[in-house]
Amino acid sequence: MALRVAVVGSGPAGLYTAEALIKQAQDPVEIDVLERLPTPYGLVRYGVAPDHTSIKSIANYLRKVLELPQVRFLGGVTLGEHLSVEDLLACYDAVVYCTGAMVDRHLNIPGENLPGSVAATDFVNWYCGHPDVPTDRFTLDSPEVAVIGVGNVAVDVVRVLAKTADELSSTDVPHDVLERLAGSQVKAIHMIGRRGPEHAKFTLKELRELGELANADVCVRPDEAVVLGADFPRQIRGNIDVLQSWAAREPVGRPRRLDVRFWLRPVEILGSERVEGLRLERTRLSEEGRVVGTGEFETLPVGMVLRSVGYQSVPLPGVPFSTDTMTVPNQAGKVKDREYVAGWLKRGPTGVIGTNKSDAAETVRTLLADRPAGRTAEIDDLLAARGVTPVSYADWMRIEEAEAELARTLGRGERVKLVGLEAMRAAYRG
Ligand SMILES: Cc1cc2nc3c(=O)[nH]c(=O)nc-3n(C[C@H](O)[C@H](O)[C@H](O)COP(=O)(O)OP(=O)(O)OC[C@H]3O[C@@H](n4cnc5c(N)ncnc54)[C@H](O)[C@@H]3O)c2cc1C
Ligand SMILES: NC(=O)c1ccc[n+]([C@@H]2O[C@H](COP(=O)([O-])OP(=O)(O)OC[C@H]3O[C@@H](n4cnc5c(N)ncnc54)[C@H](OP(=O)(O)O)[C@@H]3O)[C@@H](O)[C@H]2O)c1
Repeated sequence: MALRVAVVGSGPAGLYTAEALIKQAQDPVEIDVLERLPTPYGLVRYGVAPDHTSIKSIANYLRKVLELPQVRFLGGVTLGEHLSVEDLLACYDAVVYCTGAMVDRHLNIPGENLPGSVAATDFVNWYCGHPDVPTDRFTLDSPEVAVIGVGNVAVDVVRVLAKTADELSSTDVPHDVLERLAGSQVKAIHMIGRRGPEHAKFTLKELRELGELANADVCVRPDEAVVLGADFPRQIRGNIDVLQSWAAREPVGRPRRLDVRFWLRPVEILGSERVEGLRLERTRLSEEGRVVGTGEFETLPVGMVLRSVGYQSVPLPGVPFSTDTMTVPNQAGKVKDREYVAGWLKRGPTGVIGTNKSDAAETVRTLLADRPAGRTAEIDDLLAARGVTPVSYADWMRIEEAEAELARTLGRGERVKLVGLEAMRAAYRG
């Protein structure tokens, strides 16, 4: 009898897990990839920036996993809604949780909940056309916007805000979103780091791209570009060099301006009905290396604050979860008897897409060494009894075709995202 495994989540971690199971298993294996959305690929579809087309093409690699004869895609099936952990353990010999990290971390400062204070998770979902966020969610009507955080997600968000709609027209950005970007009133973007250039989390390639923006001048204050010491790893040295070169140049009058700021932490988002400003405190590192305030403040007159301070996982009903690490506790991917974890849910929201490949391979090694067995029921019967008809891989192909057709009709690139579950349903039901 084949080993039957449920992989929950069809992002990179889920699909690398499926691939590793097929590559590593000596005996026959059957894999169902369960996904809450009708569409596969997780953050590759709904996170990677639309203008990063070469990274998005990783989907072409992941697609080959879904097309393997041992793998089935069961879209529109949510663990915790349509199925419980007990259901999965009844229908499969082993379960691998790969549900990623879907929500934002908080700043815990006054004003964080004012309209106009926005989590990067929501903003990214918006421009990526995620069905959880309607396309009319954001109107970019503020001339000044602050982006908190200096990681790669902050860089993505800044780039999308800084580019013109024309520059994004050949991407898969939903058409309604593109029209809202075309109407953007944003003139100044402030990207705020609470430590120095040497501590920034963005990577060199991503940082350099900001310097190539045709529509925005990038400015760094010379005093904030200063770093202590000289002995930095190559990537960090590269970041510092780029930032210092920007500090030495003058703006040339492009329509938008990006200020990359350091040594400032947000202390309050100001406003009564909505965001009217952001109060920042200058920082320094304490002797123990902690970020501490200096008692020197400044206020930016922004109408929107985008909080890009990291993602975090959410607990899955019935699955152990540590509220300290916000991950599923595991040993080399093993959670419990017949239960495993991979990807961001296993190790937290860091690392690039490729990091999930070795991570998934480790989980699969652990799983196969355990030789798990114990299924007693059929998932198809169970889903049918509950009236759940999964979205199949063929249905997903119809969604893809409809997105390509939409792009042709609009004269835009290779694909334009369909937004909303209804539009996707219409595409595969015809
Ligand atoms: C905004 C952003 C941009 C990024 N850009 C890049 C980049 O350009 N290059 C790069 O290398 N890395 C990038 N990364 C990092 C990369 O996306 C992650 O390393 C990777 O996606 C993590 O994979 P994962 O499978 O663990 O999670 P995810 O990709 O989030 O996949 C999780 C999947 O599980 C599904 N799911 C969630 N809950 C349930 C449930 N209860 N039942 C069923 N299914 C469920 C979700 O819908 C999703 O499809 C980016 C990350 C972010 C946040
Ligand atoms: N193109 C790409 O390859 C790409 C694109 C997007 C994302 N990714 C990857 O996806 C992962 C997640 O990226 P991310 O940008 O969400 O997270 P991240 O890299 O962890 O960056 C988070 C940023 O938020 C700051 N921050 C955290 N808490 C804060 C607070 N309370 N106040 C002010 N600032 C705060 C952090 O500063 P401190 O350092 O001081 O904590 C850091 O600058 C990363 O591994 C990233 O490389 C890759």
